[in-house]
Amino acid sequence: MNKKLNLPGIAALSIAILFGMLMASACRSSVPGASDKKSKRTPDYVFTYAENQTSDYPTTQAARYFAGLVNEKTEGRIEIRVYPAAELGDEVSTMEQMKYGGIDFARGSLSSLADYSPESVVLQMPYLYKNADHMWRVLDGEIGGDIMESFQGSGLKALAWFDAGVRNFYTIDKPISCLEDMRGLEIRVQDSSLAKDMIKALGATPVPMVYEDVGDALQTHTVDGAENNWSSYEAMKHDAYARYYSLDEHMRIPELLIMSEVTWGKLSTEDQDIILKCAVEAGNYERKLWKMREDSSRQKCIKSGTVEIALSDREKQRFRTEMNELYEKYCGDYMDIIDKIASAASLA
Ligand code: GCU
Repeated sequence: MNKKLNLPGIAALSIAILFGMLMASACRSSVPGASDKKSKRTPDYVFTYAENQTSDYPTTQAARYFAGLVNEKTEGRIEIRVYPAAELGDEVSTMEQMKYGGIDFARGSLSSLADYSPESVVLQMPYLYKNADHMWRVLDGEIGGDIMESFQGSGLKALAWFDAGVRNFYTIDKPISCLEDMRGLEIRVQDSSLAKDMIKALGATPVPMVYEDVGDALQTHTVDGAENNWSSYEAMKHDAYARYYSLDEHMRIPELLIMSEVTWGKLSTEDQDIILKCAVEAGNYERKLWKMREDSSRQKCIKSGTVEIALSDREKQRFRTEMNELYEKYCGDYMDIIDKIASAASLA
């Protein structure tokens, strides 16, 4: 039998298939941080990236975005595998491993990086910034650049700033509405001398422990409370045990996308340049995600029972006054930088 070819039908089918393929590839390259951006070639390098936050957290999403960009821009020569939720260890031990090239990349809170850049303490002093704009003005300017530079030779290379919002106190039994409410409380802090001294200056007792253990410590009432930003409070489910969240806004601790200097030294200048550019893009991406997450975390917690306590400006000033001794102790050598940061407040 003489079968007639249905040419318009075949053409339509081919167009549909072609369209489908184009759409699939367009979607692949437009999904930020999607792992399917990975090139098919065998990579020359497979690097590790440590993150102590959950998989959906803004910093983890930015890590995957960074990994995708680097893989794309190096045409598959560099693959970066992101390990969230402290799979590679807590923040401090991650930095130690990075020093020797055991871990290649990470995102870290500046409070865990004091050993690598002593002057970085100036960027995390309590009640330093008027608001987020003020902080970003400082980080994006000369001071932020100088502090990134100051990591040189420490074993860690600073690549880009990430946002981590503002930290507040939260408690199990009773809300903190004024300075006197802090007295006698046992509060979990990061294992940093600045954080510990801050708690002591406010009349409470610091209990340093790693981030991953805070939920259990709140649940078992080993501590009376802790302090962190809205996103961490919600992501780590601290709201389930400590429902009083007081807006004292004591600290903004910037975060850094960092790289092992050992790993950095293995790369060509071309690849180093790609890494730097992709890190800056990942930083911008994280800032956008951060704003949304901070807001949605707050709403989610309030909906499920968190009591938000506003503090008056006068009360916050009383907290701030208690910090004077810390400025003397930690910033004696850097008062010029503190003054410059303070003068940038009027522009924010
Ligand atoms: C924030 C920060 C973490 C840090 C944690 C902490 O969530 O993003 O990197 O480990 O605070 O309080 O320890």
